Amino acid sequence: MNAPERNDGLITVLDVGSSRVRVLVAEVADGALRYRGHGSTAAKGMRKGLVAELAPAARSIIQAADMAEQNANAILAHCVIGVGGPHVRGVNSRGGISLGTRMREITREDVRAAVDRARAVSLPAERELIHLLPQQFILDEQPGIHDPVGMIGNRLEVNLHLSTCSASAAQSLVTCANKAGLEVADTVFEGVGAAEATVSADERELGACLIDVGAGSSEVVVFFEGAVAHTAVIPIGGDHFTNDIAVGLHVCVEEAEFLKQHYGNCVVTAISSSAEVEISGTPGHGPRTIPQRQIAEILEPRGRELFHLLRDNLRSGGVLEALGAGCILTGGGARLAGLLDSAESLLHVPARLGYPAALSRMPEELIQPEYATAIGMLLYTHRTRVLKAAEDHSLRAKLRAIFAGSL
Ligand SMILES: Nc1ncnc2c1ncn2[C@@H]1O[C@H](COP(=O)(O)OP(=O)(O)OP(=O)(O)O)[C@@H](O)[C@H]1O
Ligand SMILES: [Mg+2]
Repeated sequence: MNAPERNDGLITVLDVGSSRVRVLVAEVADGALRYRGHGSTAAKGMRKGLVAELAPAARSIIQAADMAEQNANAILAHCVIGVGGPHVRGVNSRGGISLGTRMREITREDVRAAVDRARAVSLPAERELIHLLPQQFILDEQPGIHDPVGMIGNRLEVNLHLSTCSASAAQSLVTCANKAGLEVADTVFEGVGAAEATVSADERELGACLIDVGAGSSEVVVFFEGAVAHTAVIPIGGDHFTNDIAVGLHVCVEEAEFLKQHYGNCVVTAISSSAEVEISGTPGHGPRTIPQRQIAEILEPRGRELFHLLRDNLRSGGVLEALGAGCILTGGGARLAGLLDSAESLLHVPARLGYPAALSRMPEELIQPEYATAIGMLLYTHRTRVLKAAEDHSLRAKLRAIFAGSL
């Protein structure tokens, strides 16, 4: 194998979850992403999407990054980090500009000015802006415009969705990435990443809710008419289900996780009343046989709580009735048997499991819900960079034309 090279044509993403740290590396070949390598380790020092203890968190990131470097045979210098957890918030905002007394053609600069006006909501000093997502433009009171450049009008307004996070939480992640030798180039909300890999263009248009059920929390992104209409974080993830089993059956967390994955179900009636499971228990609560339904009886209320909270959140965000294409569950926690049924019965829309789109040359074992966030962060970063490059190119071409015309 050749010596690893520093390669600036690579995109590296760092998904620091509550249960695992995942580093994924891709190269851009012929305009498309191609898998180069990955690394994954158990996450230490993380709680609810926050770095709770710096040294162990940094160590697990260093380990995962080292694995990815070896696997990709490259020296990784930059990365895009994912931000998630209950400290992330979403808000909609509207603003615009007047183009003067006479109608004229809208330019890219007008669009920028309108967006700047709409984003000028005052953020508390503690908040950091992660995304600024245009929903629609409104030109002279005509709504539903996606790209107003070249249209004629008088007043241009824009509806934006702003996603913000705790500045100190983001800074702690940056510090950990730096300790692993990675400079942070960008930040992506984990929900936006997971959606990029799992939600189709049709679903975005019709209205859909993406839920990334992680270990510590569930990130939510709602699409409507092709744009992000709402984002939220529900403070329940797969580990809450595991802990309920550990407490309810007096078993250790490791056994609770095993029981959840192999015998768990979120719907009590899906389990035969005669099925039994052997559990080893803890000292004082020795090995015994329990009805398998007992596990489902513990899990079902937690599933209902998750979707109750989600339903209330969607209702207060005004998007509960906007889910024409239903909901898409992804993240490791979405693998829990019966969770889709629980989602369907509480949200009253169809639910499906979100498997991420595969990158070329990517090992098959990565095409799993728990990799949706990392894969989607790669896709999102690539897509936005291509868009930005095209915009810069057209601006340069325009400047060249103006310059040539003035000679
Ligand atoms: N087969 C399975 N059945 C049920 N739950 C599962 C299964 N496999 C994984 N999980 C759960 O998925 C969760 C981990 O998911 P994931 O790896 O997406 O989380 P994370 O990204 O580390 O955390 P977060 O996104 O909350 O920060 C754990 O709670 C785990 O118990
Ligand atoms: Mg996650």
